[in-house]
Amino acid sequence: MQKLLHFYYKNNELYCEGTPVRKIAEEFGTPIYIYSKAQIIENFKSLQNSLPNAKILYALKANSNPAILKILNQLGAGADTVSAGEIYIALNSGFKPEKISFAGVGKYDDEIKFAIKNEIFSINIESPQELLVVNEIAKNLNKTAKILIRINPDIDAKTHPYISTGIKTSKFGIDPTEAIDVFKKSLNLSHIELLGIHTHIGSQIVDVEPFVETAKFILQYIEKLEKNGIKISHIDFGGGLGVKYKNVIVNENLPFEENDDKELKPEVFANEVLPILEKTGCELTFEPGRFIIANAGIIVGKVIYTKKTGAKNFIITDISMTELIRPALYNAYHQIVPVEIKAQKTEIADIVGPVCETSDFIARDRKIPTVSRGDYIAVMTAGAYGFVSSSNYNARLRPAEVLIDGENYYLIRRRETFEDLLSKTIMTKT
Ligand code: LLP
Repeated sequence: MQKLLHFYYKNNELYCEGTPVRKIAEEFGTPIYIYSKAQIIENFKSLQNSLPNAKILYALKANSNPAILKILNQLGAGADTVSAGEIYIALNSGFKPEKISFAGVGKYDDEIKFAIKNEIFSINIESPQELLVVNEIAKNLNKTAKILIRINPDIDAKTHPYISTGIKTSKFGIDPTEAIDVFKKSLNLSHIELLGIHTHIGSQIVDVEPFVETAKFILQYIEKLEKNGIKISHIDFGGGLGVKYKNVIVNENLPFEENDDKELKPEVFANEVLPILEKTGCELTFEPGRFIIANAGIIVGKVIYTKKTGAKNFIITDISMTELIRPALYNAYHQIVPVEIKAQKTEIADIVGPVCETSDFIARDRKIPTVSRGDYIAVMTAGAYGFVSSSNYNARLRPAEVLIDGENYYLIRRRETFEDLLSKTIMTKT
C-alpha cells in the first residue's frame, strides 16, 4: 500500500504534516484545497528512483498551481502540457523550454506558433494533417520543430472509458499502420526534426499488463520503423499510473471500505516495463500527473445542513461538483473523513453540494462517521484533477489553495471574490 504518512490523525484530529487541518479551514475558510509538500516530494522521488535513467515530465493538467510546479521543477521534473496556456504557466513557473512537451489532438495554429517560438522539447503530432501544419508554421518562423509522433496502439487500459485513450475508437494518436507513412513523411519535411514516438493509453491504470502490452508493441513497432529506414532516438511512454482512492486513511474509528481498490507501485511498473523499452536503446520519457499529486492533496469543506428524507440521509456540504467534478463525471470514489472524529456512530448518507444538479454529489450511499452542522470534512486524494477542473457554475467562487510544509503553510491561491465573477464581463452601453 502506498503510505499516506503526511495526512494522519493525532488524537482524532486530522493533520497535514505538522499542521492541524482545522486550523487552515478556520483561517482561510472552506471549501479549500490543502497540499502536503512532503508528500509531493516523496511521490516524485519514488518515481525518479524507479525510473533513474528516464526523464519525468509532470503532466500539468493534473494540477498546475505554480507553487506546486516550482517544487517539481526544483526536483528535476519537466512539464507535459496540452495547451499554450499550460506552456505559458510552465515557462512562468521556471521550467526550461527544453523540458516541455506539448500533446493534444486539436492544437490551434497560434498554440503551435507559441510552442515553436519558445523552442520547447517536442510537439507531439496526433494526425497526418497536423504534421503538415506544424512544418508550415515552423517554416514561416524560420525554425525547426522537434516532434514525436503519437500512435494509438489499440490497447485497452482497463480504466474508466472516459479516460481510456489508447483504443481504436478514441480520438487520440494515429493508427500505427497509417503512422508509418507519417514517420516517413516527417523525414522529408524541411522544418521538422523527428525525435521519436509518443503513446499514452489512459489514466488511473492499476494493472501493469496494459503497460507491458504497450511496451511490447512499441518495441516491435520500432523494429518495423527501422525496416522502413526510420531511426528514432526517443520514446515518450505517457502517464497513467493509477493510485489508491479507497481506505487511504485507515483508523479504528473510520469505516473500512470492504470493496478495496488497487494501486500500481512505480517499482512494479518499472520492473515490468523498463526491460522491454530499454531494448530499443532510445531515451525514455514518462508523463505522470496523478501519481505525483493525487494523494498529496485534499479538499476540506464544512457541513452546512444534515437532512433526512424518507428515502435517504443527506449531508449537505460546501464542497460541490464545481470544486471536485470527478464523482459527477466518472462516478469516481473519494474517501471522505471528518476533520475531527467525534462520534463512534456511523450512518449511510449521500454527501452532496449546494449546486442545482442531482449529479452534484461527492459520494452516494456512503458509510461515514456521523457529522453535524458546522463540522469540517475532508475529501481525500483530491490533489489531481481537482482544482484544475473547478468552475464558476451557479456563480460559485473557485476555492483557495494552501501548501503545507511541516508546521508552516502558505496560501498559494486566494479564494475568488464576487468581483472576480464580473471582472471579465463587459456591460453593453444600451
Ligand atoms: N499524458 C497525456 C497525453 C495525457 O492525456 C494524460 C492525462 C497524462 C499524460 C497524465 O495522466 P496521469 O498520469 O495523470 O494519469 N480528469 C480525469 C483524468 C484525465 C486524464 C487526461 N490525460 C480524472 O479526473 O480522472
